[in-house]
Amino acid sequence: MPPTFATIVLALLLSGAQAFVPIGGGSSTHVTITGNAALKKITEVCRAVAEAEGREFNPTGSSAEELLRACLGTATGEVSAGKFRAALNEIYMQNGLVDRDFMTSNPHHFNSEAFAEGRNLITQGVASIKAGIREGNFQSARETLGRVCHTLQDFYSHSNWVELGNTAPYVNLIRPDLPVGNIADINTPTCSDCASGSCPNPLLPSIIAEKKLTSGYVGITSSSKPAGKCSHGGPSDLSSSQHPRGGISKDERRTDNAAFHNAAVSLATEATLELLEDIRGAAGNYDFLRLMGIARSAVLCFVIDTTGSMADDIAEAKRVAYNIIDSKKGTQDEPSEYILVPFNDPSFGPLIRTTDPEVMKSEISKLGAKGGGDTPEMCLSGLQLALTGAPPTSHIYVFTDAPAKDIDLERTIIALIRSTKSTVSFLLTSRGRRRRALEVIPRSAFRVYYDAALASGGQVIEVTKSSLPQATDIIVDTSTSALVTILQRARNPGQTESFPFFLDSSVSNVTIYITGNNLKFTLINPSGVTQSGTVLQGPLGSIQVVGNLWRIRLNSSNQTGMWQISMETTQAYTIKVTGQSAITFVYDFVEEFKGPHPGYASLSGQPQAGLPATLLLTVTGQKGPESLKVQEVHLVEVSGAHVSKGTIKEVGGGDLLVTVTEVPGGEFVVLLQGEDTTSSTLFQRQSTTQISRSKVTVKAVVDGTMLPGQQYKLPFTVTTNGTGGNYVIRARNDRSIPMDFPKSLSLGSGGSANGTITLTPPSNTLSGTDVTLTVEAEGPGSADSNYVVLRLLVVAKVTDFTPPVCEIVSVKANCSADCTLTTWDLSVNITDGNGTGIQDVSVQQGGGNFTMNTTEEGDVTVIQGAYTASCCSPDVTIAAVDKAGNVGKCFYSIRPPTTTTTATLVTTPSAGPPSLSLSVTLWICLLVSMLTTARDILSLSL
Ligand SMILES: *[C@@H]1O[C@H](CO)[C@@H](O)[C@H](O)[C@H]1NC(C)=O
Ligand SMILES: *[C@@H]1O[C@H](CO)[C@@H](O)[C@H](O)[C@H]1NC(C)=O
Ligand SMILES: *[C@@H]1O[C@H](CO)[C@@H](O)[C@H](O)[C@H]1NC(C)=O
Ligand SMILES: *[C@@H]1O[C@H](CO)[C@@H](O)[C@H](O)[C@H]1NC(C)=O
Ligand SMILES: *[C@@H]1O[C@H](CO)[C@@H](O)[C@H](O)[C@H]1NC(C)=O
Repeated sequence: MPPTFATIVLALLLSGAQAFVPIGGGSSTHVTITGNAALKKITEVCRAVAEAEGREFNPTGSSAEELLRACLGTATGEVSAGKFRAALNEIYMQNGLVDRDFMTSNPHHFNSEAFAEGRNLITQGVASIKAGIREGNFQSARETLGRVCHTLQDFYSHSNWVELGNTAPYVNLIRPDLPVGNIADINTPTCSDCASGSCPNPLLPSIIAEKKLTSGYVGITSSSKPAGKCSHGGPSDLSSSQHPRGGISKDERRTDNAAFHNAAVSLATEATLELLEDIRGAAGNYDFLRLMGIARSAVLCFVIDTTGSMADDIAEAKRVAYNIIDSKKGTQDEPSEYILVPFNDPSFGPLIRTTDPEVMKSEISKLGAKGGGDTPEMCLSGLQLALTGAPPTSHIYVFTDAPAKDIDLERTIIALIRSTKSTVSFLLTSRGRRRRALEVIPRSAFRVYYDAALASGGQVIEVTKSSLPQATDIIVDTSTSALVTILQRARNPGQTESFPFFLDSSVSNVTIYITGNNLKFTLINPSGVTQSGTVLQGPLGSIQVVGNLWRIRLNSSNQTGMWQISMETTQAYTIKVTGQSAITFVYDFVEEFKGPHPGYASLSGQPQAGLPATLLLTVTGQKGPESLKVQEVHLVEVSGAHVSKGTIKEVGGGDLLVTVTEVPGGEFVVLLQGEDTTSSTLFQRQSTTQISRSKVTVKAVVDGTMLPGQQYKLPFTVTTNGTGGNYVIRARNDRSIPMDFPKSLSLGSGGSANGTITLTPPSNTLSGTDVTLTVEAEGPGSADSNYVVLRLLVVAKVTDFTPPVCEIVSVKANCSADCTLTTWDLSVNITDGNGTGIQDVSVQQGGGNFTMNTTEEGDVTVIQGAYTASCCSPDVTIAAVDKAGNVGKCFYSIRPPTTTTTATLVTTPSAGPPSLSLSVTLWICLLVSMLTTARDILSLSL
C-alpha cells in the first residue's frame, strides 16, 4: 500500500521542526500544509470525475505525478507533470510571498486581533478566485488562492482557536454570511506573563472560560502593545519582551507547545480543505482540476494575420488545426485548450479561448482574409494577447507575411515571453502572390520576429506560401503533452562547431530542427554512424527541408547515448533537439528574503547583475521525486560559449535550490543533467526561455483586486545598482484599460525611486476579467532595463452572500441485493431566495444522470432537478452555485444508515457540507428523506 496523504501529514507532524514557514523552513510548512490539502482534494475530485465518467481511478502511488496520470485517465500517450507541478508551485510561491509583501500587515496574518479584516481578505479573495475561474483566468485565480491560504492557515497558528479547545476549523472565516464574533476587545487583557518566553498556555483562564477569540500582537519595529495582550512571540517580535511576556504563536514546534502546534497544523490543513471544497463547489469539478493544474499539457495557440494576402495561410492554419483536433482526439496529446488571436491593420483580437474543439473549428473557419493595406500590421499586439491569455509554457504560432507595425511593443513582448516561458514561432510566408511582389522587404524589417523567437526558444520559419503545408508539421510535433527540449543553441554568424547531446531511453519521437540558409552539417550517433545533412533518408533518420527549416526525425531504434551535430557553415543558424518524455523540470529564479518568516520569492523580472543567481527547480518524471536524482545544473549561453555550474541543495518534495555564483554575461538557459534511478539511466534537459541579468529592478506588489469603474493605485519601485539618470518608464496592459503613470523617474547612482500607476477599469468591465500589466524601466542610453509582470483581477463588489438552497423533495430507492440490476431516484428543488440567481447546478459526486427544469412560482424561480443512478453508485452530491459564487449543496446516500456512515457524512470535510448552518439544513433534509424512505433504506443490503 502506498502511504496515504493522511499518513504523510502525520509523518510530517511527528518529524517536528518548524511550521507555517515558507519554502526551506523545515518539514511542516505553509507549503506542506497547502500541498497536503491540495493533493487530498484533487484526489477526491479526480475520483468523483472518474466515477461520473464510468472509469476506474487507481493511482499507482501517492506522488503528484501518479495522481495526475490516474486522474487524466487511460487515454494513450505520455503524460508530463510539468504543468501540474508548476501550477502547484505558483500557489505555494504566492502563499510564501505573503510573509514578504505583507510582512507588517496584521490582517494578512491574523495578528494583533485583526479578525474582521483578516476574514475580509479571505472572503474577498475567495470571491475573486471564483470570478477569475468563471472567466477562465486560472493563473490569477491560483495566485490569489496561494495568498488566501496563507492568511487562513495563519489563523490557526496565531489565534487562540486551538487553545480554546476547538477541534474543527472555524468555518465562519470562509462564510461571509456568518459573523466573526466574541473577540476580546482592545481593553480586555488576554495573557499572563511568561518570563521564560516558552510557557505551555499563557492565556488567561477568563479568556478560555468565556471562549473569547484573541491573537498575538506583533511588534516588528516597536515593542508597544495594548495592556495585557498576548504577543506573537519569538526573537523578531519586539512586543514579546513587554509584559505579558512570551507569545502564543504556534508557528514552530517546541517542547512546550507541541500539542497546540500539531493541532494548529492539522486544523490549518482541514480549513484549507474546506476552502478548496468551497471553490470546487463554485467552479465545478473540471474547472477546479484545471485551477489545480490538472489538464492535458498540449495547448493549440495561433496568432493569425488576416490581411488580404493571407488567404492561403489561413486555409493552412485551418487544415493543421482540424488535423490536430481530429487526429489527437482521445489521446493525451489532445489539446486541453484552443486559443486564436486574429490581427490586421489597424485592428487586433479579440482573443478567443475555448476548451471545445468544435468552437475552435468554427472560429478558425470564420477567419477571412480581408483588406490588404500595404502597411505593416499589428502583429505584436496580437501576440501580446496570446502571451497573456495562454497558459504558461505554451507553444504559440504566428502566421504572417508582413513586418510588425507596433514595434514599440517589443520589450513588452520579451518581458511577457520571459515571464510566461512560452515559446513563440513565426511561420513567415513570402508575399509571392501579392501585387507588390517585386518590392523586396528587407530581412531587417522582420528582426523583431527573430529576436522574439530566439528569446523564447522558438523559430522563424521562412517559406513560400505554396510550401507552407510542409512546414506546419512542426506544429503537430509540438502539440503533445510531454514535449521536452534536450538541446538548443544559436550562432550568428555560424562557425564550424560540434554540438553533443545525450539521449536517454525515456525519450521518444526525437526531432531535430535546424534553421538557416545553405547549411552543411553531419549527424553522428553514439556508435559513430554518421549521416550528412544532404542525405534525406539515411541510417539515422529522415530529413525534410522546407524554406530555411531542416526537420530531422531520428529512426526510433538504438538512440540512447551521446549524439553529435557537427555544423560546418558560416551562416547564422539555430539548432533545437526535442523529444517526448515524462522526465522534465520546471524552474523559477528566486531571491531570498528576510524577516520574521524568511523564505524565497520568485523574481518577476531578470535576475540582478553582480549577485549570484538562485533557482528553485522541480524535477518530475513518471513517479515521485525520489525516482530522479539531479547531478548537475548549469547556466549555458545559447549564443555563446560560457557555462556556469550551480551548487545544488535539496529543500524537500523534489525541489532543489541551485545557486550560481558566476552567472554568464549573455543570454542563457538552464541545462540539467541527472539520473533516473528506476532505470539507472542518465538524462539531459534544457529550458527554452533565454534569461539575462540586469542592474535594474522593478518591484510592485498586487494588493487586492480592482473594482469596475474605480481607480486602482499600484505603487512601484525602480532600483539600480548601476549608473543613475533618467529612467524611462513604460507601462502596458493587455485590456486597453486607461492608465496614468510617470513617463520617467530620476534615479541616483545605485539609488531608487518610487512611482504610482493608476488604472481605471471601465465600469462595464466583466467581473473576473484579468489584466496583465507590464511595467518596464529603461536606463539612460537604453543600456540596461528590467520589468515586472503583474496579474490583476477586476472583480465587482459582491453583495450577495446567501448560498442557494437545495432541498431534497423525494427519494425512491428500491435496490436489490445485486446493485447492478436496479436504480434509485432523487428529486430536489433548488432556489436562491433574494440572491443573484442560480448560475449553475451540477452533480459534484455520483455516477448517475441529472436533469433539471426551471419553473417560476410567482416571483420565485425554482429549479427542479431529477437524479437517477445505478444502485451501485450509492452517494450523490448536487451543488448549486449562484451568480456571486455562493454554493449550496444536497447530499444523499442510500448506504445503510449505520452510525459510522452517517457520522462521516457530516464531519468529513471532503464529503460533508461546507458550513455549520448548511449542515443543519442537510441533516434536516437527510432526516426528512430518511423518514420518507425509511423502508427503502432499511430493506437495503449493500
Ligand atoms: C511518436 O512515435 C510513435 C512511433 O515511434 C508514433 O506512433 C507516434 O505517432 C509518434 N507521435 C508523434 C506525436 O509524432
Ligand atoms: C546500437 O548501439 C550499440 C551500443 O551503442 C552498438 O554497439 C550497436 O552497433 C548499435 N547498432 C546499430 C545498428 O547501430
Ligand atoms: C552591486 O553590484 C556589485 C557588483 O557589481 C555588488 O558587489 C554589490 O553587492 C551590488 N549591490 C547590490 C545592493 O546589489
Ligand atoms: C519608496 O517607497 C517605500 C515604501 O513606501 C519607502 O520605504 C521608500 O523610502 C521610498 N523610496 C523613495 C526613494 O522615495
Ligand atoms: C418543488 O418545486 C415545485 C415546483 O415549483 C413545487 O410544486 C413543489 O411544491 C416543490 N416541493 C417542495 C417540497 O418544496
